[in-house]
Amino acid sequence: MSSPVLLSRTAFAKRGAHPIAQGPARREVLALDDLHAWYGESHILHGIRLSLAEGEVVSLLGRNGGGRTTTLRAIMGLVDRRTGSVRVSGIETVQMPPHRIARLGVGYCPEERGIFASLTCEENLRLPPSQAGGGMSVEEIYALLPNLAERRKTQGTRLSGGEQQMLAIARVLRTGSRLLLLDEISEGLAPVIVDRLLDLILRLKALSYTILLVEQNTHFVEGLADRHFVVERGQVVLHVTADELAASAELLERYIGL
Ligand SMILES: Nc1ncnc2c1ncn2[C@@H]1O[C@H](COP(=O)(O)OP(=O)(O)O)[C@@H](O)[C@H]1O
Ligand SMILES: [Mg+2]
Repeated sequence: MSSPVLLSRTAFAKRGAHPIAQGPARREVLALDDLHAWYGESHILHGIRLSLAEGEVVSLLGRNGGGRTTTLRAIMGLVDRRTGSVRVSGIETVQMPPHRIARLGVGYCPEERGIFASLTCEENLRLPPSQAGGGMSVEEIYALLPNLAERRKTQGTRLSGGEQQMLAIARVLRTGSRLLLLDEISEGLAPVIVDRLLDLILRLKALSYTILLVEQNTHFVEGLADRHFVVERGQVVLHVTADELAASAELLERYIGL
């Protein structure tokens, strides 16, 4: 594997021997190719290209406003317009509405978490429909996240930030989705809670979930993600593997401003 080099955005897009172009050896779960997205007249994504193999954990890093959340929303079909290709397990979804994409087993955990504040923890867990089939039972969730079992009767608003985040991820696991799109799950949480989230992601990885993690926190994703993409102004400007991460610290700093 060649060491990462800093390329202009155009050179990066044109570079033929790009590691992504070589393709993963395992089954491809998600592949974005020349993905463009708009909110109204605003053209936000400018040709995102990346792919995830089954069981891979991949991070999307970048400065605020770079287009990471929009990438997740564009995968779900939650933007005003998108063009290019979004293949989920080989199925082209770019013309599909969000509910059909979800049914293919794509679970989205938005930054705002989307739990029901007025319902208890357990009610939140019992509510999501089994979209992809084969989702975790409430008992399986409690076995994975004993904290939530202790808090089963607690109202959503009275859960701590960390518990709310665990619950939000748990709700996605209830749907049976095997591809998880997680937006800034470590944001604003105490280090001890971030460690628990790290442990959760590692356990999900061991269960062969495929996970796309949007993060600001490089420390959270090092040692967790197999590969890292940096998104800036709606484009992928850097791709590094886990092995290359330490050697790329300077580059990352230039892009993310650590
Ligand atoms: N609903 C929206 N309408 C118009 N512009 C938006 C909307 N949401 C985000 N944007 C713009 O899209 C760009 C990318 O934002 P976003 O994907 O949220 O970045 P990130 O998640 O990397 O911080 C920003 O310039 C932001 O202002
Ligand atoms: Mg965001």
